[in-house]
Amino acid sequence: MTAPAMLSGDLARRVIDPHAYAEWDGLLDTFDQIRAATPVARVQPDTPGLFDPFWLVTRYDDVMRISKDNAAFLNNPRPVVFSFNQAIEFSRAATGSNMLVDSLVVFDAPIHPKYRKLTQEWFMPRNLAKLEGELRTLAAATVDRMIAQGPEVDFVKEVSGPYPLRVVMQILGVPPEDEFRMQMLTQQLFGGQDKDLSGTGMDQMTPEQVVQIVAGAVKTFEDYFAGIAEDRRKHPTDDVASVIANATVDGEPLPPRDMAGYYIIVATAGHDTTSASTAGAMQALARDPEQYARVRADRSLLPGIVEEAIRWTSPVQHFMRTAAEDCEIGGQKIAKGDWLMINYVAANHDPAQFPDPRRFDAARSPNRHLAFGAGAHQCLGLHLARLEMKILFEAILDRVAAVEPAGEAARASSTFVGGLKTLPLKVTPA
Ligand code: HEM
Repeated sequence: MTAPAMLSGDLARRVIDPHAYAEWDGLLDTFDQIRAATPVARVQPDTPGLFDPFWLVTRYDDVMRISKDNAAFLNNPRPVVFSFNQAIEFSRAATGSNMLVDSLVVFDAPIHPKYRKLTQEWFMPRNLAKLEGELRTLAAATVDRMIAQGPEVDFVKEVSGPYPLRVVMQILGVPPEDEFRMQMLTQQLFGGQDKDLSGTGMDQMTPEQVVQIVAGAVKTFEDYFAGIAEDRRKHPTDDVASVIANATVDGEPLPPRDMAGYYIIVATAGHDTTSASTAGAMQALARDPEQYARVRADRSLLPGIVEEAIRWTSPVQHFMRTAAEDCEIGGQKIAKGDWLMINYVAANHDPAQFPDPRRFDAARSPNRHLAFGAGAHQCLGLHLARLEMKILFEAILDRVAAVEPAGEAARASSTFVGGLKTLPLKVTPA
């Protein structure tokens, strides 16, 4: 057992500062440096009272082990790092719970498997196959619209933003006219720390301001989905909105707060993540025209593109766990109750698992990345994400002969879900 590895000062700040996440190479440098010296490190931010200390876990093997051991490492009560102390106090006062939203990511066994089971089948490939036709039509229309806007386009605005948003909204029964509002709300929930995505234009927000933004978004979501649920109880369809609206747990309908939480987690988890992976892949391919041409010529590389896009971008940048018992990880003594950050960006760029991890390689094999997590909480929507991305890339490869960068791309300032918020590209139609 070695002495506790501590991170403080600038390195600790970079792990929790949303602005550090806007600069990708710098962020990867930070995690490389930390992983090499202190793969399991105690982060002691110099912001007393704002964040509690936590263990940062950066090695692939350690993140995998923690993710899979759901009895020893719990999601409840604080599954993400921006659930800082003020947010918890605010939430307790407003809802009686530690979290503003109670959902799958906050539940542990025995509740979690009961809630997860409700929609698990719906999200399996056999059921999703029925969406393929609609996805193809939507992907084709989206790419055609981008080409009509071209040759210079913001790929995020034209394609990687709207396409996954429509997919998720469709399965939740949200009509196109309400999509923009849903997008804004998601960005406030996930990107509450980014001045553009929060809708405030403010670069340095106090924790209270971020909490107010998030709480406002949650309330609006709750009211909106109460209406959808009521409609789907009266007129059920085969969408996931109907499954949630009519679900029972232990013979009882879901309490309104849990039902809202279910809608919110599906609504929010499904699009900015997929958008970030799609945009990241296009950025990588725009910088590497030979690889783009290779994939166009050999469509057997398509699944590889999708998988590498998800690893390379790792848009869910971390989740937190709480130790249920004393244990040891990477030579560090973890005490019961300690808080741990499993960092997917760092794990998916661990050179011990991924040779030359910063290279985007559609032919990378094996590519057993952790961007969807692992264990009981592994992404519920992973088959949908893969399917919609594959169909979109098919549409792009069919219609776009070549793609190149056309200006500076920008990443979100967000510690939780992150990725490109703009990607200027020049596209040459096929
Ligand atoms: C959970 C990533 C797309 C719904 C998660 C987790 C990650 C993740 C890392 C937590 C895993 C863990 O704790 O082990 C991603 C990425 C996506 C994506 C990278 C796209 C590239 C989607 C889509 C949906 C979705 C399309 C649904 C429409 C969910 C839900 C959970 C989840 C409901 C919570 C599962 C649970 O706690 O049991 N996702 N996700 N995700 N994801 Fe995704």
